[in-house]
Amino acid sequence: MALQLSSACNLALSHRKTKQVRAVASDDFVKVRSKEDNVVKLGGSDLKLTKLGIGAWSWGDTSYWNNFEWDDRKMKACKNAFDASIDSGITWFDTAEVYGSRFSFGAINSETLLGRFIKERKKKYPEDEIAVATKFAALPWRLGRQSVLAALKDSLSRLELDSVELYQLHWPGIWGNEGTCSLAYINVFLLTIRLLRYIDGLGDAVEQGLVKAVGVSNYSEKRLREAYKQLQKRGIPLASNQVNYSLIYRIPEENGVKATCDELGISLIAYSPIAQGVLTGKYTPQNIPTGPRGNIYTAEFLTELQPLLNRIKEIGQNYNKTPTQVALNWLIAQDNVIPIPGAKNAEQAKEFGGALGWSLTSDEVNELRELASKSKPVIGFPVEKL
Ligand SMILES: NC(=O)c1ccc[n+]([C@@H]2O[C@H](COP(=O)([O-])OP(=O)(O)OC[C@H]3O[C@@H](n4cnc5c(N)ncnc54)[C@H](OP(=O)(O)O)[C@@H]3O)[C@@H](O)[C@H]2O)c1
Repeated sequence: MALQLSSACNLALSHRKTKQVRAVASDDFVKVRSKEDNVVKLGGSDLKLTKLGIGAWSWGDTSYWNNFEWDDRKMKACKNAFDASIDSGITWFDTAEVYGSRFSFGAINSETLLGRFIKERKKKYPEDEIAVATKFAALPWRLGRQSVLAALKDSLSRLELDSVELYQLHWPGIWGNEGTCSLAYINVFLLTIRLLRYIDGLGDAVEQGLVKAVGVSNYSEKRLREAYKQLQKRGIPLASNQVNYSLIYRIPEENGVKATCDELGISLIAYSPIAQGVLTGKYTPQNIPTGPRGNIYTAEFLTELQPLLNRIKEIGQNYNKTPTQVALNWLIAQDNVIPIPGAKNAEQAKEFGGALGWSLTSDEVNELRELASKSKPVIGFPVEKL
């Protein structure tokens, strides 16, 4: 899957009280006024993160994003996105060992870039508290719990950090680790055993002080309950489940994942929260996204989406908010949801700050869901079924 092979807050864990953000680039966009207002505890852990984080998948990636090219201009733009996020008070970044990465030619690993940006930033502003969430890739040759610690240490070395705030198990079983037996139920059984060993590895990482909290990603209700129980035996909370969730991809509401997260006190981290740029309203049937996104968000799909996109825009105008900010606010209104939109430049990052500090009414939240359910659902990758 190109989606991932390509490649937690103010969290920052603020020990200081209500620190005002340093730089406010534009009052229209930046509404994050204080840390206190905009932080949330991640699941049952002690980790505090801003109610919105920044996704760094596209940083250094040449297999899904960036039109398969990486250059100094793009690097400067994502460095500016990093700085603009922190200046706006959003200080947690989501990356993964497979983002950017050694797996694709011309790419730079996203962890390496993030580590560099943090180091440069800290030289200028040593008091800045920046939180990092990264992920373990369940590759076929990674068999036991020790493989989790080994991969984490490699990630820490790329990030040039001694520890990270959140470590997540990226996918349950898509990297050829599902097993090769002709009897499907045996493969499911073997995968379950393997995944529980990885979960043990996550617990070891917490006990060794290498991470503050642990989570999973793309986990179904069943796998979530298994992982939760396995960690619970050691008194470690499963803090989060990172899944695809947006106004036009509401599967977590339908497959029991959101309800299970709420029931067990696990934060739901929403990835692709603006549907890879589509909910910003900038893509139209005449202007579809370039690259692999064009195969998902086709002219036909975007034509059907227009009533929803128009209504998002109208509602935003009443609040002096952009469609991007409305789409992100809608997710935050679901409660127990932390969106992590991806930013490629400073303008995009600054705009995300304006999604916080205000709320859609419950009538607007319901109206948008209803309108979204009238459009054809976006094609997702039903990894939660694994
Ligand atoms: N765990 C997983 O399996 C998984 C899977 C996917 C993603 N993720 C995480 O979730 C993060 C976000 O997901 P995502 O990157 O797939 O999708 P997304 O956040 O929904 O969309 C990001 C894209 O939208 C466009 N955009 C962003 N801000 C904009 C703005 N203000 N105005 C106009 N366009 C804007 C940019 O692309 P253009 O400018 O090119 O349009 C940007 O790359 C990732 O970075 C990653 O950390 C995790």
